Amino acid sequence: MTRSTVRFLLGDRLQEIGKVDPTMTVLDWLRLKKMLHGTKEGCAEGDCGACTVVIGRLDGDVIRYEAINACIRFLPTLDGCHLLTVEHLRLPDGSLHPVQQAMVDCHGSQCGFCTPGFVMSLFALYLNEVQPGDDRVRDALAGNLCRCTGYAPIIAAARRMYALGGPRDGRPRPDGQRIVGTAWSVGRTGNAAAGRGRAAVHRAGDDQRPCRCADRNPQATLVSGATDAGLWVTKALRQFDTTIYLGGIAELRAIAETDDTLEIGGGRYLYPGGAGAGPTLS
Ligand code: FES
Ligand code: FES
Repeated sequence: MTRSTVRFLLGDRLQEIGKVDPTMTVLDWLRLKKMLHGTKEGCAEGDCGACTVVIGRLDGDVIRYEAINACIRFLPTLDGCHLLTVEHLRLPDGSLHPVQQAMVDCHGSQCGFCTPGFVMSLFALYLNEVQPGDDRVRDALAGNLCRCTGYAPIIAAARRMYALGGPRDGRPRPDGQRIVGTAWSVGRTGNAAAGRGRAAVHRAGDDQRPCRCADRNPQATLVSGATDAGLWVTKALRQFDTTIYLGGIAELRAIAETDDTLEIGGGRYLYPGGAGAGPTLS
């Protein structure tokens, strides 16, 4: 089944978007269409981390979360995902999320421009790991730059956020069941071909469909992580008439091991903490 819209969750709200430009970035959509200005634009090329948001994607029976750069991620690639920005972290009683409170307590912010990005990278770490060592903290923050606070207070905040406790599964709202249920219905129903038919998004178990789609659209740009294609748009100001997103195809993320071979899919992403790690919303 092919849909003509892109569907995903923003916080706990279902978004269904048609006629989306296949090269609209998640950052532009958040700031220009949704007026969510907490996510910042710094470099617009995936280097500074000011634009960091967190996305969750169904993996079997669980939703796995990761921090991404919204500035080079194309909106149609969020089909079937759960998108969280810094605006979604506040707890139901209005208090700060432990990640945010830890940054306050440890004086982890000065001018504040980088802060939402650091908070979201720490939030992804908080979701994925229980007590990471300093090396893991540094890895998790490697994509975020700060020009004025310095990193020691931010690393201290990473330790403090666990001491503050709070909702250990990281749910920003107490309706995780509904989020999982909606994510299931969004994530398991068909493929999207949105925006004047120009952005196709392909899913797990559908390995022949992208090939057929590429046959029909030989001029199409194949996109997976978009770390190159994103810059062609934000820096070289190129437009793509058609994109085919491959990042959701499980077969491309598979690892297969035999006695004498190890095959790693070209789209493989190793979740922080290794395969099988990650929070469970169930
Ligand atoms: Fe710098 Fe996105 S704005 S990484
Ligand atoms: Fe100013 Fe980080 S607090 S750039």
